[in-house]
Amino acid sequence: MFVYKIQVVTGHFKCARTLDSISIILIGSCGESTKHKLDKWGKDFLPGAVDEYSVSSKEDLGEILLVRIIKEQYLFFPTDTWFCSYITVTCPKGEHYRFPLYKWIEGFVTVDVPQGKGIIVTDGVSPIVRQQRESELEKKRETYGWKTYMEGAPPCINADSPTDLPPNEQFSFMKDSRFSFSAVSGTVGQKILGLSNCKESWKDLNDIKKVLVIEGTENSDLTSELWKEDTFFGYQFLNGPNPVMIKGCLRIPDNFPVADVTVSATMGPSTNLQTELQNRNIFLADYKILEGIPTNVINDEPQYLAAPMCLLWKSPQNKVVPLAIQLNQTPGEENPIFMPTDPKWDWTLAKMWVRNSEYQVHQIVTRLLYTHLFAEVFTIATNRQLPMGHPIYKLLVPHLRFTLWINILARDGLIGPGSDFDQFAATGKGGVPLVLAKAMTILTYSALCLPDDIESRGVEFLPNYFYRDDGMKIWQAVKSFVANIVRYYYPSDESVYKDPELQAWVAEIYKEGFLSLQSSGIPSSFATRSELIKYLTMVIFTCSAQHAAVNSGQFDFYSWMPNGPSTMRKPPPTTRGTATYQSILETLPAVNVTAISVAYVHLLSTEAMDRRPLGTYPDEHFTEEMPKIFIKEFQEKLAEISKVVKERNQSKRLKYHYLDPEVIENSVSI
Ligand SMILES: *[C@@H]1O[C@H](CO)[C@@H](O)[C@H](O)[C@H]1NC(C)=O
Ligand SMILES: *[C@@H]1O[C@H](CO)[C@@H](O)[C@H](O)[C@H]1NC(C)=O
Ligand SMILES: [Fe+2]
Repeated sequence: MFVYKIQVVTGHFKCARTLDSISIILIGSCGESTKHKLDKWGKDFLPGAVDEYSVSSKEDLGEILLVRIIKEQYLFFPTDTWFCSYITVTCPKGEHYRFPLYKWIEGFVTVDVPQGKGIIVTDGVSPIVRQQRESELEKKRETYGWKTYMEGAPPCINADSPTDLPPNEQFSFMKDSRFSFSAVSGTVGQKILGLSNCKESWKDLNDIKKVLVIEGTENSDLTSELWKEDTFFGYQFLNGPNPVMIKGCLRIPDNFPVADVTVSATMGPSTNLQTELQNRNIFLADYKILEGIPTNVINDEPQYLAAPMCLLWKSPQNKVVPLAIQLNQTPGEENPIFMPTDPKWDWTLAKMWVRNSEYQVHQIVTRLLYTHLFAEVFTIATNRQLPMGHPIYKLLVPHLRFTLWINILARDGLIGPGSDFDQFAATGKGGVPLVLAKAMTILTYSALCLPDDIESRGVEFLPNYFYRDDGMKIWQAVKSFVANIVRYYYPSDESVYKDPELQAWVAEIYKEGFLSLQSSGIPSSFATRSELIKYLTMVIFTCSAQHAAVNSGQFDFYSWMPNGPSTMRKPPPTTRGTATYQSILETLPAVNVTAISVAYVHLLSTEAMDRRPLGTYPDEHFTEEMPKIFIKEFQEKLAEISKVVKERNQSKRLKYHYLDPEVIENSVSI
């Protein structure tokens, strides 16, 4: 008799346990055990339980390759979903194998769990392992289907509501409370409900704070204090929630005829535009993507959008300040160029228009498309193409946690038809799909890869660009972790090239997710390990750090509505000298629209429940020694970075802490 000792570990949260009857079969390289019912005195499979059993076999099974879990009805009880963390098997001669699952098992089913060792399919791989992988993928392709989201945008998961999702993607399975994803149903939403019928203009900007009593943050308080200052306006291009818009400008664009005289008052007598262009101190934020986008109707009033260009200067004091703003793309008499020397309200209004454009591009392109939708594409493709025994699946799955769930809720409550966005944003009710589709046509691989993005935008040398500085450190840390993992499992470029599952994965992302956009430069296959390393770094960075950078600061910068107006009720000014405080109040969103938009950013800035900071992997998908060492090294690097961010934080009035690794989530889950 050969006796195998088994441990079965159930997840340690409340509803993880099961009443169903569980049996297992051990499948080894030399044979299979018979079906063995796991049953002992007292209750099995309670939350957090480590249940021990032994399974005997007449023959030596060899290396245990799979554990087959059979979940069946117990007496007359209905099926009871079970969260199995992992199973271990100790063989008679002492070899010990671990079978990580960390998944919900729903219904009366059979699940084959492969040994934890990461395996690439090569010629030498056992047919048993191959067979397991093929049937796992076949099943997952049924549950993880693609569906068109909006014409020209990346597709989404083929599920209409969170409960249609596979249980492993459902947050509510983990927590008792259902999290409703609509701004007005949040706590702040309740507070503002009293304003929901007030479609008046604000009488005084200071009333916004008095009426919307929401506890502020240090940064949001500073925003309401500093919002009119040019240096603060400039600061946000570097360290606000949309830190990807500013580009180096070597030549003034033809459609933005800024003359030397326009800027000389700002620059002072010691320099001029030409010199500053040559010295690479001139930058541009161009919102061309908003040109021609149809606008919303809110409270029965048409709303307006601009498509501004804003010229910026890095001053000798190392501040980025605006030099000139043109609100539309075609120059002309009706499209004046505003400058800091204009009457106060003219200039303030011009900057507000830029902030309004910034808000739209940030929400739709930087946040929705570049983080949420791409993260969803990575999630779907990873489940469809990589089996759980694949090392790259093990690497990525923690970074894809709850992304489908949050995106479905967001499509429903926040940004889809009839959602919050339709009620408060200029691009609601029809603009969003058009902006998304335009953004896809100009998508580039370099925009997804921070080091390339910094270089292609020409912003390597801008001072106090904390998003860039912290982001680059995190990118490097992720990259060296990924490189360790890749080099450990792939001995050569050839092994990358010849991994059919990996190649199918990248090809599917390219074809489905990135719509086969050849001009984007996004890879559709990998020829080398370094291509793979870069790509995986991009995936993890996008789902974690990039999402944090563009998500976490929203309340800080937008809760003071005049700094982030979600819509405008009057068209962009066509002459200078017309703006007044009164006309600004009439242009900014009405009271009830402000209230919803503030509740929205409040909701999006709440911390995710059940947090898992970047680099923490409580689920041990990797079971070998080396990957665990790589994880530890990664965590040490991140802790270093966190220390530096915190130290800098102390000396700054405006804190840039969005990329402190301690507060970055592993995945897009809010
Ligand atoms: C604002 O209030 C008006 C009623 O005065 C209402 O018709 C409208 O739906 C409200 N708008 C929003 C966005 O709540
Ligand atoms: C930054 O500093 C402030 C206090 O100055 C503190 O409240 C905040 O938690 C710090 N943030 C981080 C990420 O260290
Ligand atoms: Fe988000």
